[in-house]
Amino acid sequence: MSNAPIGIYDSGMGGLTVWREVRRALPEESLVFLGDGKNCPYGSRTREEIRRLADAAVARLVEEEGCKMVVVACNTATAAAIDQLRAKYAPMPLVGMEPAVKPACLATRSGVVGVLATERSLDGDLFRRTAARYGEGIEVVTAAGRGFVELVEADREDTPEAEACVREVVAEMLARGADQIVLGCTHYPFLLPVLQRVLAEHTDRTGRDVAIVDPSPAVARRAVQLLDAGRLRAEAGHRPEYRFLTFADESYRQRLIAKAERLF
Ligand code: DGL
Repeated sequence: MSNAPIGIYDSGMGGLTVWREVRRALPEESLVFLGDGKNCPYGSRTREEIRRLADAAVARLVEEEGCKMVVVACNTATAAAIDQLRAKYAPMPLVGMEPAVKPACLATRSGVVGVLATERSLDGDLFRRTAARYGEGIEVVTAAGRGFVELVEADREDTPEAEACVREVVAEMLARGADQIVLGCTHYPFLLPVLQRVLAEHTDRTGRDVAIVDPSPAVARRAVQLLDAGRLRAEAGHRPEYRFLTFADESYRQRLIAKAERLF
């Protein structure tokens, strides 16, 4: 047993959507959320840069904050760095983001699955391997959510500008008949209200429903499993603390806290 915190890390504010699920699944665990902020967005950086940034973030959570487990709540950092982080920090458990292509491929009836993610995640091995493994016989249509991360970072995720941006990015996958859209970046669930509006219009026009697949509840379940396997749960009745850190400035940290509060 350990009352040490669980670390949750993202390039910025997106990982808060995973933080929410981990908090729900593990209500007695203290959580330290590190939203880099200073180097966000990661999506168009090189793999080497992302590896260096992810290593510095996990080092901060483990060495300075004493975390007993780290959730890399960033698809881009997971794709670029999870193997290297696992090798370095073993036996500490590390949970990464899985592109939720498998549940989408199992659920599709049209045989077409859309995946939204950052450029770097889409051209990474993790996505290619997952798509090849589960996407046999299924058309997987990908699109980079250009501008999405910036909108969420600027707290502009529920604006007409965001709606126009989302409409443009999903147009092709909808035109090709996608009935599942996978959110392959932890920032994107913040855009759910606008995405749902765009999909509702599509349903009105075509009569076809489209499901949205967010992997964060499954990632939280994985964190629970690993915590139990390592006998790392906090004591029964432990009163959790929630802390927020960033490599950016204090005003960014305050915005992170405000955004986390709005999620509940
Ligand atoms: N939230 C991130 C992800 O899940 C990264 C966004 C970015 O920094 O580009 O991929």
